[in-house]
Amino acid sequence: MNYFAIKHLHMTAAGLSILFFVIRAYWSVTGSALLQKRAVKIVPHIIDTILLVCGVALSIMLGAAGMQPWVLTKIILLIAYIGVGTIAIKRGKTAKTRGIAAVIAVAIFAYIVGVAINHNPASWFA
Ligand code: HEM
Repeated sequence: MNYFAIKHLHMTAAGLSILFFVIRAYWSVTGSALLQKRAVKIVPHIIDTILLVCGVALSIMLGAAGMQPWVLTKIILLIAYIGVGTIAIKRGKTAKTRGIAAVIAVAIFAYIVGVAINHNPASWFA
């Protein structure tokens, strides 16, 4: 696969990740049983793995240009997005906690998109 294809796969996975996250977060806050479905539990892991693996592949293909602070920022914030995301979907005890965690996770994601586009850890504030 060439760079362009991997980049598109990376961006598609990012889009699907936030789309499915928002849907699951909604189900989590409203206490929907759909959240317990097998596919609903597995598919997001596959998407997030594709997102990360493609991101790492792109960094390696970029060589020195891929070893930049903005790339490290994305890796750290992707971990934060997933971590806060699990509070929103699973670990948060009350609907309110899960709702607040969901909003924070979406904000982290929006920040990461800014980091991606501007190639700068300061994201939209660069
Ligand atoms: C939620 C997490 C992520 C989102 C939303 C995201 C989003 C994006 C977007 C939108 C682009 C295209 C930017 C552009 O060309 O304008 C991109 C490119 C890229 N991303 Fe990510 N990304 C994420 C995670 C990661 C991670 C974890 C890594 C590194 C391990 C990474 C490495 C890269 C690289 C190297 C490029 C290529 C930049 C270029 O060719 O100019 N991304 N990402």
